[in-house]
Amino acid sequence: MRHIMCMNAKGGCGKTTLATNLSTWFADDGARVALADFDPQKSSLDWLQAREDYEGVPTIEGIDALAGPVRPPRGTDYLVMDAPAGTHGKVVSDMLRRVDDLIVPVLPSPIDMRAVQRFIEELLHTGRVSREQTRIALVANRVRENTRIFHQLEDFLSRTGIPFLTHLRESQNYIRAAETGLGIFELAPAMVYKDVVLWDPLLEWLEAA
Ligand SMILES: Nc1ncnc2c1ncn2[C@@H]1O[C@H](COP(=O)(O)OP(=O)(O)O)[C@@H](O)[C@H]1O
Ligand SMILES: [Mg+2]
Repeated sequence: MRHIMCMNAKGGCGKTTLATNLSTWFADDGARVALADFDPQKSSLDWLQAREDYEGVPTIEGIDALAGPVRPPRGTDYLVMDAPAGTHGKVVSDMLRRVDDLIVPVLPSPIDMRAVQRFIEELLHTGRVSREQTRIALVANRVRENTRIFHQLEDFLSRTGIPFLTHLRESQNYIRAAETGLGIFELAPAMVYKDVVLWDPLLEWLEAA
């Protein structure tokens, strides 16, 4: 079973968006997916609840990681983990236990860039990351492509020494998907193609492990 975590100490940067959409990508591909929510806000679990209203979309198993040990059903192929904000120090190294791939979403904002710099430092000092048992990658999120702040973010993310895979656009499609319990991959292709194509580098990076 592959363990994938979306984490950044900063709130609102897209952890839940990445975790839920990634879960649908694997599930739509026929994999058995469990989505573990570590956040007391339980946004991933709320999303799964909304998803129950749909027939014909693959089931994703929800796990409330704050309620007890995370035990995905037997035969689970992917365990996707949605981390809370405010993760620092020992909490980070505890959460990384058994994580194979860690994705860090970052917003184009000066505050978020400064904060993630510190967070990356912390990550690089955790045992699993320094032993290369956990791979890390960065994803810019909520990007408006022709803006100065996005270019600053690109510059900054390309120089951290950690793979900077792609950027996701600021798009109502993510809001719609969040509301309805679907992934953007499950919305009308004509509506989402510009968003979907930007996931390719991330999906390839995950596949390449
Ligand atoms: N690329 C995007 N475009 C538009 N809205 C987004 C995008 N990514 C996230 N959002 C919205 O921003 C808010 C915060 O995102 P979320 O994934 O919940 O962040 P986190 O889990 O890190 O707190 C949510 O309302 C979400 O729907
Ligand atoms: Mg969240």
